[in-house]
Amino acid sequence: MSPTISIMRLPRVKDERDSFTIDLAAKHRDLRLHALQTEPSSFASSYQEESQWDLGRTIAKLNNPQTVHWMAVRTVEITAESSSGDSSLLLSAPWVGFIALLGPVASDSQGSGKISAKIDPLVQMQISGMSSGFTRVDKPITEYPDTASSALEFHIGAVFTHQSARQIGIGRALIDAALGEAQSQTRRAGVSAFECTIHVDKGNDSATRLYGKAGFTVVREETYAQQVTSPDTGVVRTVERVALLMELRQEVS
Ligand SMILES: CC(C)(COP(=O)(O)OP(=O)(O)OC[C@H]1O[C@@H](n2cnc3c(N)ncnc32)[C@H](O)[C@@H]1OP(=O)(O)O)[C@@H](O)C(=O)NCCC(=O)NCCS
Repeated sequence: MSPTISIMRLPRVKDERDSFTIDLAAKHRDLRLHALQTEPSSFASSYQEESQWDLGRTIAKLNNPQTVHWMAVRTVEITAESSSGDSSLLLSAPWVGFIALLGPVASDSQGSGKISAKIDPLVQMQISGMSSGFTRVDKPITEYPDTASSALEFHIGAVFTHQSARQIGIGRALIDAALGEAQSQTRRAGVSAFECTIHVDKGNDSATRLYGKAGFTVVREETYAQQVTSPDTGVVRTVERVALLMELRQEVS
């Protein structure tokens, strides 16, 4: 990993629109839009749609209590994961990557006593504001396999490394930060294991390799319908995308 990159967890911003909140949300939105614009086939959302959103939606996304966001920040010294304390550094240093961890999934609403019920990761993404304009073509939620034994369930959404900083370990460091948080939350909850899913478009070999190296394995292929609006004509068409659902299970001692 480059000695000038830190992985920094974003603090919860305030709901009221103080200048730190606005600047942080605007910076997040800028990198997110850059990612959507330059890598349109890598995300379950689109530049056309999100560029229309006001900043309040980004603030709400950053404040979602079931989501943790990290940024890869160009700094002067290496740290695996800095605390969220250094707010001024977050705003002043350039951001070159991001990741979001969604979950854990809330207790089963049926009251079955299970720790969690497997929930469709696409639904999790939509609830968290990380996905829009997508619908599942196959596999309704009820077909998701139940967990073999008690485990907290997380989903990783929106992994991105800026084009200027790829293949120096940032993607892996972002994944490690997210999995470290999943592990801590699982331990705090007194649960013995967690499971984490991630979607990657079939054919996105660099991301598939990254997740494979981090311990994820392919569970199955899934098909999604995406509403795509032409930036020139405004015409909306439906595009089918095939994604791999990858999963990792980790025991927590
Ligand atoms: C996929 C992506 C996040 C990888 O980020 P990165 O910071 O370059 O990844 P890292 O440097 O940490 O690489 C970690 C591992 O991923 C794999 N990898 C990363 N880029 C790769 C590439 N271009 N080709 C092949 N393998 C690649 C390698 O296995 C690498 O480990 P190794 O160098 O020991 O072999 C980045 O290319 C990206 O943002 N792509 C566009 C957005 C995207 O596809 N996001 C994923 C959506 S599911």
